[in-house]
Amino acid sequence: MRVTMIGSGYVGLVSGACFADFGHAVTCVDTDSAKIEALNSGAIPIFEPGLDSLVAKNMREGRLSFTTELAGAVRTADAVFIAVGTPARRGDGHADLSYVYQAARDIVAELDGFTVVATKSTVPVGTGDEVERIMREARPEADFAVVSNPEFLREGAAISDFKRPDRIVIGTGDDRAKRVMEDVYRPLYLNAPPLLFTSRRTSELIKYAANAYLATKITFINEIADLCEAVGANVQEVARGIGLDNRIGSKFLHAGPGYGGSCFPKDTLALMKTAQDLAAPLRIVETVVSVNDNRKRAMARKVIAACGGAVRGKRIAVLGLAFKPNTDDMREAPSIAIVTALLDAGASVVAHDPESMAAARAVLPGIAYADDAYSCLDGADALVIVTEWDAFRALDLDRVKAGLREPVVIDLRNIYRSDDMRRRGFRYSNVGNA
Ligand code: UGA
Repeated sequence: MRVTMIGSGYVGLVSGACFADFGHAVTCVDTDSAKIEALNSGAIPIFEPGLDSLVAKNMREGRLSFTTELAGAVRTADAVFIAVGTPARRGDGHADLSYVYQAARDIVAELDGFTVVATKSTVPVGTGDEVERIMREARPEADFAVVSNPEFLREGAAISDFKRPDRIVIGTGDDRAKRVMEDVYRPLYLNAPPLLFTSRRTSELIKYAANAYLATKITFINEIADLCEAVGANVQEVARGIGLDNRIGSKFLHAGPGYGGSCFPKDTLALMKTAQDLAAPLRIVETVVSVNDNRKRAMARKVIAACGGAVRGKRIAVLGLAFKPNTDDMREAPSIAIVTALLDAGASVVAHDPESMAAARAVLPGIAYADDAYSCLDGADALVIVTEWDAFRALDLDRVKAGLREPVVIDLRNIYRSDDMRRRGFRYSNVGNA
């Protein structure tokens, strides 16, 4: 199969590299010529474990190429995937679809023979209809089918999520398109991935509903964590106690500083706005969004309380800035609100993150950055763990204690054990554990 990805960002690049690894001939297109040049010279613009070697291997074996020339790549393709950005529109929170619609116009001008145009970008319900209308209007005679094929990749685990998906959702009523999409995903059949065919609108909604549900699950356990602190219970045991019930499931029940990233905050907001516009409000999602927003600054108050009620003039060490481990992504990272609130309260902050410090400097210019965990905490009045990188899970605690001016540790990801930390003489607090 010949597959073309429009957009060589996170989704386009990971999906393109994985499709190529399955043996398809893949061309990734992007309008950003600097990005394409970099990719062609072997540089990967994002940090995703395993992606650099996957891209290099498939380029070397001639199945993966990068170009700014959309025309040729579309003309020869069996399936063209739209994987461009859909950022939250400034002002009203709706998804900005201008890149998707532009891609549709660019694609239709070049179509040659029956082609499936599949939207991978996260788009509001009805976007597929609009993409089809735009394309049909531009070239009424063109032979194509517009399909919804949302992605469910997690940053940091995207390659294994792509290769071993829980499900592949394909929204189309067109039989020829179904066959093309079956062929595109056939290499995964050994692992028997459940292919779920639905209408296009249903498929578009599945994506938003999945992210909103996961965000709700996290927010639920975060509120239970607050209650645990108030009643003297342990949220990890509560999570295990409810998660072993198969109807609930144990995943996405880790209490922490609130969800962040490029997906949950944007998608919950966009879903909420769509639902409000259609007079079918999603009150649970509205509450999730506001609880999560408030939580980030509440975490700063937790740090301040652990420091005796004030941080003015104190030096706070922060380990982990990315919104989660194994990514350099700082988008909507809880660290941004937490660090900003600590600075507002008069603290000075020194931070370390294994991958995201370059991105962090742009959004958090007013802090110091350290090359490693120990130099970060050296001489600090408190240590705050914000992102649960593996490298922070087994710190040499004697060295930590010796480095800190005060043995105060606030572990917002519950990676250490309270009893152990207290026995070692730390003034330790975490999330949901009195
Ligand atoms: C999320 C979904 O998990 C993917 O299925 C989806 O494809 C993707 O959004 C998307 O729409 O593109 P991602 O944002 O990469 O993936 O990251 P997650 O692993 O879902 O984590 C999101 C946030 O929730 C992080 O800030 C993480 O720290 C937080 N989280 C996650 C918790 O606080 N507790 C948990 O138990 C799980």
